[in-house]
Amino acid sequence: MADLSIDFAGIKSPNPFWLASAPPSNSGMQVHRAFEAGWGGAVWKTIGTPVLNVSNRYGAWHYGGQRMLAINNVELISDRPIELNLREIADVKRNWPDRAVVVSAMVAPNAEAWSEVVKRIQDTGADGIELNFGCPHGMSERGMGSAVGQVPEYLERITGWVMSAASIPIIVKLTPNITNIVVPARSAVSAGANALSLINTINSIVGVDLDTLAITPNIGGKGGHGGYAGPAVKPIALNMLASLGTDEVVSKSGLPISGMGGISTWQDAAEFLLLGATSLQVCTAVMHYGFRIIDDLCNGLSNWMDEKGYATINDVVGQSLHRVSEFKHFDLSFKAVARIDQDTCIKCNLCYVACNDTTHQCIDLVSAAGKVVQPYSYDVRSNGKDEAINTRPQPVVREADCVGCRLCYNVCPVDHCIEMVEVAPEHPSTTWNEILQAEPEVTEDWEAMKAYRERNGLHIH
Ligand SMILES: Cc1cc2nc3c(=O)[nH]c(=O)nc-3n(C[C@H](O)[C@H](O)[C@H](O)COP(=O)(O)O)c2cc1C
Ligand code: SF4
Ligand code: SF4
Repeated sequence: MADLSIDFAGIKSPNPFWLASAPPSNSGMQVHRAFEAGWGGAVWKTIGTPVLNVSNRYGAWHYGGQRMLAINNVELISDRPIELNLREIADVKRNWPDRAVVVSAMVAPNAEAWSEVVKRIQDTGADGIELNFGCPHGMSERGMGSAVGQVPEYLERITGWVMSAASIPIIVKLTPNITNIVVPARSAVSAGANALSLINTINSIVGVDLDTLAITPNIGGKGGHGGYAGPAVKPIALNMLASLGTDEVVSKSGLPISGMGGISTWQDAAEFLLLGATSLQVCTAVMHYGFRIIDDLCNGLSNWMDEKGYATINDVVGQSLHRVSEFKHFDLSFKAVARIDQDTCIKCNLCYVACNDTTHQCIDLVSAAGKVVQPYSYDVRSNGKDEAINTRPQPVVREADCVGCRLCYNVCPVDHCIEMVEVAPEHPSTTWNEILQAEPEVTEDWEAMKAYRERNGLHIH
């Protein structure tokens, strides 16, 4: 059995799964129950300055019959008194010495306030502190949250104050509401932080109610931007994680990264580890399905690691990072084409329509008699009827014309019915960067590009 335990900047936990700082980690009772269920750690809901929260504070984005593909919130930090939180943190840590208890904090932008909150948190016996420089919707007006995370100089200065007051590991949590995540991450490195975490929530409005015309969620007739999280944000989080893992300064610093943003399944968790995360935080999936998902997360990850021959989490961390590249380095001669498995195809024609209307018009509809025929519109009344399916024409890819864009593969509703098959390259391997170096005029002038194509037998259709 794979060993799931981690040592994250000196913070140890029996598995890499921590509750993210959010409603699931809002009280001692909840964190206690999460630990009983098997969670490896918890980042306490952010504590700090007095606040008041509003009703109707969580919006959600549902799509295609699936509930809560993303959550959106205008919740502030903990509205429970700081003394109560600190007492409960100390109590949880006393009872769970083997679990990671990290405390998220956010206070006014002055050295005394930060020094005081750091000392009070340390007195609880907590294992680490996470600096919340990310909330996009609240406290910015008070110079906190993303007001700090979006200005690398502020982030560096405040992290510096914390580092000089702290004797336990400090994690800087980054906001995704910024053009280039590497810039604030480098500031955290230069301020001496012990670790990074990402992503906090993304600015969003989840919708407008078409009956009342109110913004969703509606708070007494008003609504506004809130923080977006959950499965829908995972691709953004993965990209930001990979950006840090491939950045010279951040990766050379060796700071561990706690990854979050859309982790719901063990597969998501494995992807975050492969792109460089050492610990994993979860919020929305817990808000959707409860603490019990920890069993699936741990069992699934452990089984997958066994299958792949990974003995420890450290063996997995960053294994896909060397594959992260840029367009200019991609091999322009690489070629894949779409192939349709005629036996599993249900002849819905989605691939035909997608290719014909939007990409390269290289799927033919072939009748039972073997003739290429014109499409006819889909008749919902025939849905599922064998005779209708059997009389529909079969889509067939003209491979010579297929550019391998992968759209048909993406729209096909039947798993593995369309496969993208790598075929022998028709041209010698080359990258855009190599063309730029050897023949820069080709990259600047359409006539030169035309000549280049003719010389190399490249036909665009
Ligand atoms: C309702 C809600 C409240 C949150 N409150 C906090 C908070 O107090 N402090 C913080 O650092 N992040 C907070 N977050 C952000 C989460 O910690 C996490 O960064 C984000 O939800 C992404 O993870 P997920 O996709 O697993 O939800 C909150 C998120 C949600 C949805
Ligand atoms: S891969 Fe693109 S070009 Fe090729 S058949 Fe599919 S949709 Fe058409
Ligand atoms: S989308 Fe898939 S199932 Fe539908 S016709 Fe094309 S190959 Fe067949």
